[in-house]
Amino acid sequence: MPNRIFITRMLPQPVFDRLDEAGIAYDVYPKDEIIPRDVLLREVRDREGLLCILTDVIDKEVFDRANRLKIVANYAVGYNNIDVAHATRRGVAVSNTPGVLTDAAADLAWTLLLATARRVVESDAYLRAGKFEGWGPMLLLGRDVTGSTLGVVGLGRIGKAFAQRAAAFQMKILYASRRRDEEFESSYPGEIRRVDLDELLANSDFVSLHVSLTPETVHLIGEKELRRMQPHAILINTARGPVVDEAALVRALKEKWIWGAGLDVYEEEPHVHPDLISLPNTVLLPHLGSATTKTRTRMGLMAVENLIAFFEGRRPPNLVNEEMRFSSSR
Ligand code: GLV
Ligand code: GLV
Repeated sequence: MPNRIFITRMLPQPVFDRLDEAGIAYDVYPKDEIIPRDVLLREVRDREGLLCILTDVIDKEVFDRANRLKIVANYAVGYNNIDVAHATRRGVAVSNTPGVLTDAAADLAWTLLLATARRVVESDAYLRAGKFEGWGPMLLLGRDVTGSTLGVVGLGRIGKAFAQRAAAFQMKILYASRRRDEEFESSYPGEIRRVDLDELLANSDFVSLHVSLTPETVHLIGEKELRRMQPHAILINTARGPVVDEAALVRALKEKWIWGAGLDVYEEEPHVHPDLISLPNTVLLPHLGSATTKTRTRMGLMAVENLIAFFEGRRPPNLVNEEMRFSSSR
């Protein structure tokens, strides 16, 4: 019988220290690369726990191989990589890492917003190419951030943390969300209003996406939505790539329906639409939302706490499929 838990990627050392301390045996895929599918399918056999990352597709085929699997701990807040409905049918618990990456993700969305508005990456390349010949009144002009209108699509934890930071830039906020959040509204020092998506798109200078990826949010932003945005507007996506129709976004940028886009996520990662790469009015990051040393460690410890709780007979604190029952006698 192999060790109880399989971990699909090398993680920060404290994660392994914590498992050792809890006396839970594990194996780790030893190479620092996305685990090949055939290795994953082979390794899940006879494991009771799986700690996986968002690039691992945990679908029916994996569950079919993982005859003894009881818990999947995802090292991410988003869990669209896991067939949760199928896990639930099989009685497999699924957990995620909410909360610990909220600030890092919100900070990165702001990094993209500011970098895109002020053409930071393009300007840096310009200077490095030796083109800077002195200050110029018309040199590399961008968009104003302070005092503008921010559209926040999805007001969950990350959406709220992102929106909070807009207060420092005296921005007006329009948000689209399933529910009105009066508590958040009253905590925001400036003007803030819940509107429908169409109104948000038509009236925002910046539109930032903070929804999770579900069947309802695939291509939430497509041609129709992009055409509704203002020609000076900027789209920021740090949520999940498929929320935006990437081909439509390329047209929107080329034909200047919108002014620019700052992206951290793509429809078919790691593939990025080649036209996005050649366009100057984009800032493109390789899915770095939670990429700080501290956050990645906290995510790992959180994933591990879910595994430890489960194997000690407790309910995993960040259970995603809450319909799973945990009796104290298990
Ligand atoms: C990152 O994208 C996450 O979902 O944690
Ligand atoms: C994710 O979107 C969260 O709210 O943490």
